[in-house]
Amino acid sequence: MSRAYPRIAALKTAAQFEAHVASLGVALPFEPTLEAAPDSPLAQAVDTSAGPAGNRFCILPMEGWDGTPEGRPTDLTRRRWRRFGESGAKLIWGGEAFAVRHDGRANPNQLCLGPTSEADLVQLRDDLLEGHSTAGLSTDDLVIGLQLTHSGRYSRPDADHRPKPLAAYPHPVLDRRVSPNGPVPILSDDDLDDLSARLVQAAVLAQRAGFTFVDVKHCHGYLGHELLSARTRAGRFGGDFASRTRLLRQTVEGIRRDAPGLAIGVRLSAFDTSPFRKGADDIGEPEVPQADYAHAFGRWDGTEAAPDLSDAREFLALLVDLGIDLVCLTAGSPYYNPHIQRPATFPPSDGYQPPEDPLKGVARQIAATAMLAREFPHLRVVGSAYSYLQDWLPHVAQAVVRSGGAAFVGLGRMVLSYPDLPLDVLRGHPLKRKAICRTFSDCTTGPRNGLVSGCYPLDPFYTAHPDHARLKAVKAGA
Ligand SMILES: Cc1cc2nc3c(=O)[nH]c(=O)nc-3n(C[C@H](O)[C@H](O)[C@H](O)COP(=O)(O)O)c2cc1C
Ligand code: SF4
Repeated sequence: MSRAYPRIAALKTAAQFEAHVASLGVALPFEPTLEAAPDSPLAQAVDTSAGPAGNRFCILPMEGWDGTPEGRPTDLTRRRWRRFGESGAKLIWGGEAFAVRHDGRANPNQLCLGPTSEADLVQLRDDLLEGHSTAGLSTDDLVIGLQLTHSGRYSRPDADHRPKPLAAYPHPVLDRRVSPNGPVPILSDDDLDDLSARLVQAAVLAQRAGFTFVDVKHCHGYLGHELLSARTRAGRFGGDFASRTRLLRQTVEGIRRDAPGLAIGVRLSAFDTSPFRKGADDIGEPEVPQADYAHAFGRWDGTEAAPDLSDAREFLALLVDLGIDLVCLTAGSPYYNPHIQRPATFPPSDGYQPPEDPLKGVARQIAATAMLAREFPHLRVVGSAYSYLQDWLPHVAQAVVRSGGAAFVGLGRMVLSYPDLPLDVLRGHPLKRKAICRTFSDCTTGPRNGLVSGCYPLDPFYTAHPDHARLKAVKAGA
């Protein structure tokens, strides 16, 4: 059972949606009337360091837990990338997380740097371009990047599916969750030097494969993000801000040296909270009182107040100094505060019932992103967490981009269920209601149980996939 918040699908008119938003006491940019291309703000081209982007839709990175044990794409991976191309969005932020070291794979089926990576990346990019061309679109203004990652304390690289965490520093709550029987190994400074070299190596391959930027990932509790809060870590990669951002700075220097001309982006969790756990009635509650939590990079205290964005500001100022313009903003982590990261009606199987109306989580990310986008007007900022808006996503997206609240609107789950939503919006077509993501979270529950990720309820391909029956069995037993 999900906690009863008004369902977005039941809000049939713009007035009803706006009244619901107002009743929550949050502000959300909104335009009741949609415009099509060429007039829509979402249809306007914009230059980026990675090339011209023909519109303001961005596909957020989403992995499918469907690579081979060697880290190579399968037909399922290729299908997803093709559909990303078919979407009509002109900025592809990373495709999906690509591990640069085996021990940093978030699951044994994550794409990973290896001897065939260059050819594999060429193929994935070709699939995406082909999807775009098949949709009747020019690829001249399509910008494609690759997201580079090490999963840190969320590494689960081997076929035994067991957590093999590698952390930046000991954590009083998260260590217990990933390693109940002993301390979590800490990556040494030498490990981080090696990791930086692997990030550079992967960037070189991505450039050779035709990608025009790489994302040096700093979000969602993975290693790059965790380093940002490594205030208690000794050595070259912890302590003050300069040391906590050394991995990024060192990697940027290496990429500029070995892959000149390749643009660089960063996906950042702009704010965070104490880890959540199931409380009474399975509703999420912070495990450590927010006021006592010292490990957030950008703390939101769980009240109606806005998150503290001072950490994010300092980080974005560094990006400006480094000559980086591509920034994708997100929040928290899908592991320890998923309602902050990807607001949903239904939690994933290892989650908790949302402690707030999910629309509040959407509004919080959009407001934080807008504040930062306006303070850093030279950055090309991508916003996240729009899928919960469902039928009203285009109305909010249009208003956000028109008012300068983001340069791009990022789409995650919605693209799994409804890949051509951007094209429908730009062409002035009504939305296909049956394809709209209703945030059932099956695309997260599947992989948490060792199954491939896809939109089981709404994408007929996954409804018919053998893992669908397994997923149903898992959910029935939960
Ligand atoms: C199945 C799935 C896989 C994801 N994989 C990644 C990933 O590889 N890298 C990443 O930065 N975010 C990943 N995300 C998070 C999304 O990019 C996005 O931030 C999140 O889903 C919120 O956006 P939405 O509301 O449009 O779904 C994933 C999300 C889902 C549902
Ligand atoms: S499984 Fe489909 S409907 Fe459910 S959250 Fe994922 S994309 Fe949306």
